[in-house]
Amino acid sequence: MNDAHNGLTVLVTGGTSGIGKALVEALAAKGCHVLTTSRDPHRLSPTDRVPGVSYLPLDLAEPDGPDRLAEDLERLGVLGEIDVLINNAGESQSGPFEELPAEAIERLFRTNVFGPVRLSQLVLPGMRARRTGRIIMVGSMLASFPLAHRSSYSAAKAALRTFATAARQELSPFGVWVSVVEPGSIATGIGLRRTKYLEDGSPYTDDVTTMLEHLDANERGGIPAEKVAATIIDAIVSPRPREFYAVGSRAPLPFLLKRALPRSLMSKIVAAQHGLKR
Ligand SMILES: NC(=O)c1ccc[n+]([C@@H]2O[C@H](COP(=O)([O-])OP(=O)(O)OC[C@H]3O[C@@H](n4cnc5c(N)ncnc54)[C@H](OP(=O)(O)O)[C@@H]3O)[C@@H](O)[C@H]2O)c1
Repeated sequence: MNDAHNGLTVLVTGGTSGIGKALVEALAAKGCHVLTTSRDPHRLSPTDRVPGVSYLPLDLAEPDGPDRLAEDLERLGVLGEIDVLINNAGESQSGPFEELPAEAIERLFRTNVFGPVRLSQLVLPGMRARRTGRIIMVGSMLASFPLAHRSSYSAAKAALRTFATAARQELSPFGVWVSVVEPGSIATGIGLRRTKYLEDGSPYTDDVTTMLEHLDANERGGIPAEKVAATIIDAIVSPRPREFYAVGSRAPLPFLLKRALPRSLMSKIVAAQHGLKR
């Protein structure tokens, strides 16, 4: 896949904003056959759409969402032809561990873990048969550096990373490479779309407010989505993509610190970066 952007068939989930949109634009400009998804493609105006890109419906929160997308791909005759799957779509969620509703945690895991896993399973037979393929899981640095009041999100992204790391060992003998890309703070406006849980009169109110103010400020000051897209494209065109990429939030510095410092000190640093004294 060295020089071969041209002609690659690439499926990017969640290509209507942020990192996914930047990816779709960059891949289409490179001559890839790009398919992407939205929960509601019909709401997209012509100016929201990148010319030449197919927009298909997918709601990962629905248990049969990936299977329905696979049926659409089969109807289009491309299910067995996907060269690259980028599991990018995701929900951002915050809330105190004690107060997170079970149904919110379940929806988050369906959207951020079970959906991407199922979609990967559905494109794998084609990749394996052709003995070539790339699957990128878009994780989050919060999986490597868990944060207060982001427990569900940090845990979901860590679960996705672990699925990917084990699957890579199974699939690389077939020429299929699975990689994880962990973005740090990226200026996509995702904070505006975050689902937030906090009970009235919660004892965590001040803590959550402080954390969210710092989180949103970090995201606003983050790197542009195009830089994450460039990292993902480097991964998919590499003959042997790495297991793990981190981009943004001054990576690789936090990972070097994590290796050098005691775990408890690293946790304090992560909390302090979000205004929390621990
Ligand atoms: N921005 C950051 O700082 C940051 C940091 C670390 C990791 N990430 C991860 O990077 C990925 C992209 O983030 P982003 O900042 O680009 O987010 P974004 O701008 O909010 O875009 C999210 C995309 O996912 C789609 N989506 C949302 N919920 C969905 C669902 N239930 N089913 C299917 N599609 C859904 C949205 O499409 P529709 O609304 O059209 O359905 C949209 O295209 C996510 O996995 C996120 O967790 C982001």
